[in-house]
Amino acid sequence: MARELPLRAVAAQIIQAVEQGESLSQCLPHTAADLDPDLRPQLQALCYGTCRWFHRLDSELNGRLRKPLRRQDRVIHHLMLVALFQLRFSDNATYAILNETVEACKALGKTPLAGLVNGVLRAAEREGAPEPATDEARYSHPGWMIAKLRHNWPDHWAAILDANNIQAPMTLRANTLHGTRDEYLERLREAGIPGKATRFAPHGIQLDRPVPVDLLPGFAEGDASVQDEAAQLCTQWLQPEPGQRILDACAAPGGKTCAILEAAANQAEVIAIDESAQRLPRIQENLDRLHLSATLKEADAGDTDSWWDGALFDSILLDVPCSATGVIRRHPDIKLLRRETDITPLAGIQSGLLANLWATLKPGGRLVYATCSVFPQENSRIIRRFLDQQTDASLLPADAPWGLDTGYGRQLLPDPQSHDGFFYACLVKGRPEECQ
Ligand SMILES: C[S@@+](CC[C@H](N)C(=O)[O-])C[C@H]1O[C@@H](n2cnc3c(N)ncnc32)[C@H](O)[C@@H]1O
Repeated sequence: MARELPLRAVAAQIIQAVEQGESLSQCLPHTAADLDPDLRPQLQALCYGTCRWFHRLDSELNGRLRKPLRRQDRVIHHLMLVALFQLRFSDNATYAILNETVEACKALGKTPLAGLVNGVLRAAEREGAPEPATDEARYSHPGWMIAKLRHNWPDHWAAILDANNIQAPMTLRANTLHGTRDEYLERLREAGIPGKATRFAPHGIQLDRPVPVDLLPGFAEGDASVQDEAAQLCTQWLQPEPGQRILDACAAPGGKTCAILEAAANQAEVIAIDESAQRLPRIQENLDRLHLSATLKEADAGDTDSWWDGALFDSILLDVPCSATGVIRRHPDIKLLRRETDITPLAGIQSGLLANLWATLKPGGRLVYATCSVFPQENSRIIRRFLDQQTDASLLPADAPWGLDTGYGRQLLPDPQSHDGFFYACLVKGRPEECQ
C-alpha cells in the first residue's frame, strides 16, 4: 500500500483486504508502520469502526447506489463505507469528510468515480441515516450470525448483538508476584489513570478509559498485563499450584500461560504449546516481560506423538481455537471474516483436541476447556458429547458467581460494563464418585 495515500484511502484498502479474508490484526500493523505515528490511532479508529458498523453502512450504501460498482472499483465502495462511518458515528466536520473522501477517490486512481462519491455522500448527509430495514442492518451483524444467536439464546440474542457493537473496556491483570491489586490501583491513580477492581477476577482492574500500555506504571517491568476479565477466570477452576506439571495446550500469545504461572508463584512446570510458528514468540515476549518461565513447543497439541514425553499432567488448560464470537467487540472484523460453514469444522477440531489430550492427564487431574465463543456448538455440546463417550471423565459442578450454567459448563456473555463472552468447563479424570 502506498504511503502517500490519504488516510481514508488506506482505510478503504484495509477494509477491502478484510473483505477478502485478512484480519485487521494481520493487515493494520504493517500498513500503520508506514504511517506517521500520529495518524495510526486515526487509521485504527476508521478501520475498527467501519468493520463494527459494516453491515449497517453497507445496507445504507447499497440503497443509495443505483447499481453496484464494478468489481475493479470495489475499493471505492469501501471508501464510501469509511466516509459513511464518519458521517454517522464521528464528530468530524461534514465538509471535511466529503472533500477528503473525494480526494481519496482520486488518489486511488478512480477520478471518474469522484462525482458519484460526492453525490452519494451529499445525499447521505442531506437525508440522514435511513431506518434499518433488516435485522442485519439494525444490529450490524451478518444474517447467519443473528439467526444462530437467536436460535441459541432466545432470551439474550439481542443483548449479545448490542454488546458486540460497544467498544470493550481495557482490563488489566495486576501481577500479584510484584504487589497487590490495591497497590497497583493506587499506582494507577497516582499516574492519573482511573480504574476499578473487576467483579469476578481477583487480580483484575478495569480502566475507565483505554491508555497505551507504555503509560501503565511498571508495565515494562511486568507489574501488570492487559487481559480481559473473562480470560483471567481461567485460573479459578484450574487452580494451579507450585510444583505441578501443567499443560497449556493452545497457548499463544500466552496471556493465560502467564496468568497460570503468576497464580503458581512461577513455581509450576508449564509446557505451553502452539502450532503457530508466528504466534509462539509472543508467549516468550510475555514471559520475559513478566520474569516467568515455561517450556514452549511448536506443535499440533492433538498430535501427542509429536511432542509428549509420556509424563502425565496434573492439569491442562485447553483454550481451543474457536469462532471468537464472544470477542467481536474487540475484533469487529470477525463479522466479515467468519462464515457459518466455519463452525462445524471448528467443533470437529475442538472435539479432537479434547479427546486426544485427555490421555495426557493424571487420574484425578483437571482439564479446563475454554473458548471465547458464544455458540453452544463449540461449548456445551462439545462437553456433553465428550462426557457421553468418555467413561473416566466427570464434569466439576459449575458453581461460580459469573456466567450462566449451561448444564455442561458456564457461559459468560459479552457484558458492555465488563467482561467478554467466554465459556469454561472443568473436567476431572475419574468416575463421578471418585471426584467428590
Ligand atoms: C484462543 S487462542 C489461545 C489464546 C491463549 N490461550 C491466550 O490466552 O493468550 C488459540 C490458539 O490455538 C492455536 N492452535 C490452533 N490449533 C492448534 C493445535 N492443533 N495445536 C496447538 N495450538 C493450536 C492457535 O495458533 C492460537 O494461538
